[in-house]
Amino acid sequence: MAMKEGADTREIANPRGLSISKNFVVDPADNVTGYKSFHAGSFDFKRDEYFAYITTPKGFHTMPVDAFLRALMRDVAWGFFYGTVNFDQVFGTTNYYGEVDMFLGATNESYTSVARDFIERFKSNELMDIFKQMVSDWTIEGYDPFAAPMETGAPWGVKNGDNDPAVGRVRVTARRMVGLKGDTPIRTDQNGYRVNRMFDDVKQSAPEVYPEPGFENEVSAFNLFAYLSRSDVTWNPSVCSVVKDSLFCPTSEEYILPVEHGNDRCEWFVTLSDEIVWNIKDGATGRPKAVVRQRAGDCACMPADIRHQGFSAKRAMLLVWENGSPKVPDLIREGKAPTVAVSF
Ligand code: PHB
Ligand code: FE
Repeated sequence: MAMKEGADTREIANPRGLSISKNFVVDPADNVTGYKSFHAGSFDFKRDEYFAYITTPKGFHTMPVDAFLRALMRDVAWGFFYGTVNFDQVFGTTNYYGEVDMFLGATNESYTSVARDFIERFKSNELMDIFKQMVSDWTIEGYDPFAAPMETGAPWGVKNGDNDPAVGRVRVTARRMVGLKGDTPIRTDQNGYRVNRMFDDVKQSAPEVYPEPGFENEVSAFNLFAYLSRSDVTWNPSVCSVVKDSLFCPTSEEYILPVEHGNDRCEWFVTLSDEIVWNIKDGATGRPKAVVRQRAGDCACMPADIRHQGFSAKRAMLLVWENGSPKVPDLIREGKAPTVAVSF
């Protein structure tokens, strides 16, 4: 996801004091299912017709392969994202920006209370390499883990082709703003982005801009609703404008956010259209905390110590607003920054 580019010389945080695991192995395709299996440290990953299986020295975990692939796709596309990406209540990754912890049960108090959680630490680029191979091998022809379920084929069955154009999509990250000269382009029919079936009613007009001579590259505007109506993916925030550490990451949402996101900073949500329901749980334990129903125009700030998962029956537009500063997670861990953006 959107991390600010540029030199960051701070030490990589390692709250659990873990050493780096290696041992990356890809096993050849299985004779029966045709899928490869993958190993990273002591984690083993295997898929069959319906399920993804994760084995560690401390436990074995099963996920439906559609849910696993949707979550894996986000973890890959977002470069392990901010903080923790829970694929479900048991398995996930925590990003330390350069290094990453991969865990079974570490954010689930049923596991931690009986010491059944298992965590290993990896160099981010090394684990990412295995994750990318896994999402490529396990995604079959016709299935798109970025798409809403009604807009894609099924992931079930034995190995049958692949869908590398879909899983290899490069996420949009504007340097300054969508539509500026030399920056990421606006979306049109001509460049392959058609209006989504659920946003037929969204006006496609564009703002008129008359910059003073000499300011043509500095003054710009675009129709964000039209831009979002043409998104071909769901639950995939793209960076559309950048002002220092302030990142506007709008996205279009249909069905379920494929991960429970445990952010390492506060994060603002502005619902731009329709309705999204958020289940909020404690970040460390997974205990349910709140349900937030956000309708068009509603604004919420997610605290830095929770996890959240969104649900949207009708495709909705959401503005995710992130503070991309690499300093924030350490400040929160050290108690120097609050876990909430506003105190009343
Ligand atoms: C989030 O975790 O904050 C998030 C991720 C993807 C989305 C929306 C929100 O599409
Ligand atoms: Fe989030």
